Amino acid sequence: MTAAQALFQPFELGALHLPTRIVMAPMTRSFSPGGAPNAAVVEYYRRRAAAGVGLIITEGTTVGHPAANGYPNVPHFYGEDALAGWKQVVEAVHAAGGKIVPQLWHVGSVRRLGTEPDPSVPGFGPMEKVKDGQVIVHGMTRQDIQDVIGAFAQAARDAQAIGMDGVEIHGAHGYLIDQFFWEGSNQRSDEYGGSLAARSRFAIELVEAVRAAVGPDFPIIFRFSQWKQQDYSARLVQTPEELQAFLEPLSAAGVDIFHCSTRRFWIPEFEGSELNLAGWTRKLSGKPTITVGSVGLDGSEFTQFFGKTDEIAQPSSLEGLLERLDQQEFDLVAVGRALLVDPDWAAKVREGRERDILPFSREALKTLV
Ligand SMILES: Cc1cc2nc3c(=O)[nH]c(=O)nc-3n(C[C@H](O)[C@H](O)[C@H](O)COP(=O)(O)O)c2cc1C
Repeated sequence: MTAAQALFQPFELGALHLPTRIVMAPMTRSFSPGGAPNAAVVEYYRRRAAAGVGLIITEGTTVGHPAANGYPNVPHFYGEDALAGWKQVVEAVHAAGGKIVPQLWHVGSVRRLGTEPDPSVPGFGPMEKVKDGQVIVHGMTRQDIQDVIGAFAQAARDAQAIGMDGVEIHGAHGYLIDQFFWEGSNQRSDEYGGSLAARSRFAIELVEAVRAAVGPDFPIIFRFSQWKQQDYSARLVQTPEELQAFLEPLSAAGVDIFHCSTRRFWIPEFEGSELNLAGWTRKLSGKPTITVGSVGLDGSEFTQFFGKTDEIAQPSSLEGLLERLDQQEFDLVAVGRALLVDPDWAAKVREGRERDILPFSREALKTLV
């Protein structure tokens, strides 16, 4: 056993039994032309599970709504071909000893006209946006809201049917659900806008619908973030009290695990305590949490996931992370870029072969290994 043994302890929550505490963070890879994961995608996830990732959260995969997608070659989570592809991913990951949940995604107003699958469909968001006389974002009606909620519930039902171990709802990073949360993107005057409680109504109804679709025992993970891709300094909540008020109705609606997305896990969330967002969320909600953000990396800035700058992040020690895990600040640790570039990251950590770990560079985005 190496110092990293805390990462290799099992985790149990109801029917969910994870062999290790290492979670693969959801990462859009854009290798699914036509929306169906193919054999290369199956192998990509299988390798990470075989090397010791306990839980894979898939790349964002779009629910069955015409405006859900924002980027080329992103896998769907609807339709026979896509679901058949995902079923193969599930079977391969299970055969390798891992567990897997899909990250269910709707990009909202980030979508632009001209995007697949139907280029004539604009973005859908809390607020209408018009540019040069053209509606580029359709302001969602109550019916649209119900349609999107229905699409998430159907995707969750399908996830259960093909053997997924739960679902993750993407409520982070300035995509649709987060666009409703954030006052910067939601100035609605109906019951879905106003206070943070009212801006959370869409997410709460969505989680309730997913819970009703899958029954009481199927794990629902909810990912949220303070930061937005539109504004890294944005915050939904300023104090622990506000965070608690934000979390409570989501827990009551059916969330089992909160995935607290930060860009660097060692940054304290509020003054006066070392706890990060996952630490505070665990303490205030009583739910298990997943931490994330530059695990195993030196914290080099990454400005854009799909961005243009060349960027290299060097491997770094896990010491600070392991200390926090030992102190039960959070339950699970999601790893993004380090696992993207190095499928054997978990095995190398387990065996104390840190020196063999590959550095992350944007070059890695070009291939699926
Ligand atoms: C190429 C790439 C694609 C990403 N795609 C998603 C995504 O689809 N959904 C999501 O919630 N986060 C996405 N993220 C964010 C990661 O899940 C993770 O939170 C972030 O990379 C920080 O973790 P890291 O420092 O370990 O990479 C992406 C990150 C990268 C680098």
